[in-house]
Amino acid sequence: MISQELRDKFLTFFKERNHKIIPSSSLLPTDPSVLLTTAGMQQFSLYLSGKKDPLEDFGSRHLASCQKCFRTGDIEEIGDDTHHTFFEMLGNWSIGQDEIGYFKEGAIQLAMDFLVGELGLDKKRFYVTVFRGENGIAKDEEAIDIWLKHGISREKIIECSAKDNFWGPVSSIGPCGPCSEIHYDRGEHLGCGRPDCGPNCDYCKRVVEIWNLVFMQYNRNEDGVYELLNQTNIDTGIGFERLLSVLNETGSAYETDIFEGMIKRIEEVSGKKYENNKQAFRIIADHTRSAIFLVGDGIEPSNIGQGYILRRIIRRCVRYSKMLGMTNDFSLGDYVFEKYSSVYNELNGSKERIYGIIRNEEEKFEKTIKTGLAILEKKLETIDSNIISGEDAFDLYQSYGFPVELTEEIASEKGFKIDKVSFLEALKKHQDLSRAGAEKKFGGVGKDAGEEGAKLHTATHLLHAALRQVIGSHVQQMGSDINVERLRFDFSHTQKLSSDEIKKIEELVNQKIKENLEIKKEEMGLEDAQSAGALAFFKEKYPETVKVWTIYNPTSGECFSKEICAGPHVNKTSELGIFKIIKEESSSAGVRRIKAVLIK
Ligand code: ALA
Repeated sequence: MISQELRDKFLTFFKERNHKIIPSSSLLPTDPSVLLTTAGMQQFSLYLSGKKDPLEDFGSRHLASCQKCFRTGDIEEIGDDTHHTFFEMLGNWSIGQDEIGYFKEGAIQLAMDFLVGELGLDKKRFYVTVFRGENGIAKDEEAIDIWLKHGISREKIIECSAKDNFWGPVSSIGPCGPCSEIHYDRGEHLGCGRPDCGPNCDYCKRVVEIWNLVFMQYNRNEDGVYELLNQTNIDTGIGFERLLSVLNETGSAYETDIFEGMIKRIEEVSGKKYENNKQAFRIIADHTRSAIFLVGDGIEPSNIGQGYILRRIIRRCVRYSKMLGMTNDFSLGDYVFEKYSSVYNELNGSKERIYGIIRNEEEKFEKTIKTGLAILEKKLETIDSNIISGEDAFDLYQSYGFPVELTEEIASEKGFKIDKVSFLEALKKHQDLSRAGAEKKFGGVGKDAGEEGAKLHTATHLLHAALRQVIGSHVQQMGSDINVERLRFDFSHTQKLSSDEIKKIEELVNQKIKENLEIKKEEMGLEDAQSAGALAFFKEKYPETVKVWTIYNPTSGECFSKEICAGPHVNKTSELGIFKIIKEESSSAGVRRIKAVLIK
């Protein structure tokens, strides 16, 4: 079965069962607290938490979609059989229950009808997982009973902890619930042969998850407490590429029609065989597709946020292409357009623009990689131990634009490690020096200008979030400076702001000040912070544990801004006074600068 057929089958199946088909939303979510779209439910968050009524906006409580998703947690795993950075998620929803709404019983029935009835999969090869109970939430006996009724034998129903079977929320607060996953046994030949092999096996990918059914009944509030929602919802997600490869009995999606053309083309251009170079082939194919979709949704390479992810993806792809001895041409990208232009309209007519942006980034990287690689390799020859010092890694970053992850990857292929702690120290020392330089130059005041500084820090976060809401989520922080009198904020945007936009931004910030939002600080690992959707500025400079500041409405729990920042901040926005933009100007190409003050 080819990809288009599966997409059509899924959407037609749900359309025939009274589901409204909703187009995929962008990879750039509207919720500023989340970096990228990672699940089909994200565009329905407000409906799932009961704040909006799907009947009013969609004319239906039952929805289905094929959603573009991107997960950064999986970048290092790309190359294996089952992970992708960009992927598509098929999903169906029942939001709120009334006489036509469905919950566990209905969701499981639909899943079985589609997988077994429509696609002809053998249910004897299914395993299902259910929530075993944790955090004051009981074991899901109801789901166990329903699966038994559908003929899944008890030993194939596996009880799992919250880590595997409690889904969400996408950000640190929001709708979530216990889930039940359908896993599929791909056959003994792919297994580890252990007697306890099954779902989530640590040793092999014989059994893979194909469909996650979330029984969305809870909301996680800002205190981390799970409260029952006033409604029950069904939220489901199928990893599209995974299901496609299961149906075609291929080891991975790289051997399906989605990637076949690209893989063949890499063989032609590189003169190498896929069989002998699977990891590199797969990384190139995955990242080519991802980069096109990210740029297609308006993201451009940069050193922060989504732009940084794109930069890393493009640079990694270039590096693996080089490993295979390929010179870049864009024939691989053409396969992506061929496959997806009819599915995702934003790719139509934008090939030249997308290629232009990617080409530009590749050229930038080409220039630096030449010098950087030679230096790194020379360095590796002269090092006695297997540790690359932080200063050396920093030098590669600073002088040759080598992302530290890339240095780490090249080094680890050759059995070397980077001294990460001293790398971060070198980075910090550099930043302190440049800050001291700036202060000297401008006769500036220290970074934390006391109480006023805290107010302006908080105002900066409000401004950042307001900019993203008013002019778009492509806005990313490019720089920020605070002295006792004013804040200065540089951000990515190509056009001068109109007076109307400036007014809207001021109004939004002042409205949030009036709403007296609270500011909460949490300390967490950088990875956790980013997966909770905290906006970051120059990702690499952060230590492993970071402070995440959330500005939220304590009554509704709604989050207005979430950023990683060293602080300090005030406790409540009402402490700020009135926010006023005093200047809007160009800072450099593609970067605008705002200066703003707080009036008492
Ligand atoms: N939201 C659920 C997931 O992404 C279905 O797995």
